[in-house]
Amino acid sequence: MFKRHRKLRKNEVIRNLVKDVYIAKEDLIYPIFIEEGENIKNEIPSMPGIFRYSIDRLSEELDELVKLGINSILLFGIPKNKDACATEAYNENGVIQNAVRFIKEKYDNFLVICDICCCEYTSHGHCGILDENGYVKNDETLEVLAKTALSYARAGADIVAPSDMMDGRVEKISKALAENRFENIPIMAYSVKYSSAFYGPFRDAADSAPQFGDRKSYQMNFQYSKDAIDEVAEDLRQGADIIIVKPAMAYLDVIKKVSDKFEIPIVAYSVSGEYSMVKAAAQKGWIDEMKIVMEQMYAMKRAGANAIITYYAKEVAKFLENSE
Ligand code: PBG
Ligand code: ZN
Repeated sequence: MFKRHRKLRKNEVIRNLVKDVYIAKEDLIYPIFIEEGENIKNEIPSMPGIFRYSIDRLSEELDELVKLGINSILLFGIPKNKDACATEAYNENGVIQNAVRFIKEKYDNFLVICDICCCEYTSHGHCGILDENGYVKNDETLEVLAKTALSYARAGADIVAPSDMMDGRVEKISKALAENRFENIPIMAYSVKYSSAFYGPFRDAADSAPQFGDRKSYQMNFQYSKDAIDEVAEDLRQGADIIIVKPAMAYLDVIKKVSDKFEIPIVAYSVSGEYSMVKAAAQKGWIDEMKIVMEQMYAMKRAGANAIITYYAKEVAKFLENSE
């Protein structure tokens, strides 16, 4: 006697009856690149369909998101001026601060999540302040991150999301927020963030490639598996409310491990390289784009992700709408 697994696959009704992995529009977070300047809508060459906008044209994107029912957005800024200490990151009139105020004045639906990092704001492109040997100084960088978080909070951000991978940033940011009566702003921490070639296209998009070296002294090593749980536990202890695991597709084991271990919301970040690979193959006509994308969405959900940050959010929302 053997078990007949095919009984539950016989037709669509029974397949849907036993289905237990779901994805909805509410699970989607769409990243947006905002560049300081005027009249900018520039497509990112390595990310077809993804644009950098200046604030005066941002509504073109936001109106489309409203129509599609996507309410969660993750903002990245591209400032006009960069320096060694990322001072533009916490300029009260910086590109993200102005963008957040603009969005909050004009729209009432968006959950505005601000990525916090130095790499878009430093002339050298590293995620923090350097010492004389080019090593990123941890504790000095924390000061910049905390100031940046506070200025985003003042501008009206709903959530702050530190992506720098310095030790102690969640505690530092959460303290700075609490001391300034922003204790109710959730911290969505990139707790598990590997040093990854999958971020390649993003660095074009955000002008944030390091001018020398790499990020291996702060982002995690994918050849070592024992620190993922510890990173999450430590960020939770420091006050993180939501955890990001990044990249997603090559790290589903990590999403699964973290979701098995902790009762907390987990966000999978399907990063730029994951988007570009699928886009390129689709443009060549080699794959069925939306079937591949949806299969990946379900894989992330099945691994334990509550929400997904994806450059495909708009296409996924359209797909879901048409299949209802
Ligand atoms: C900034 C940041 C990066 C990404 C999110 N926040 C780039 C990096 O760490 O080099 C990557 C996102 C993507 O590739 O889509 N630190
Ligand atoms: Zn960075």
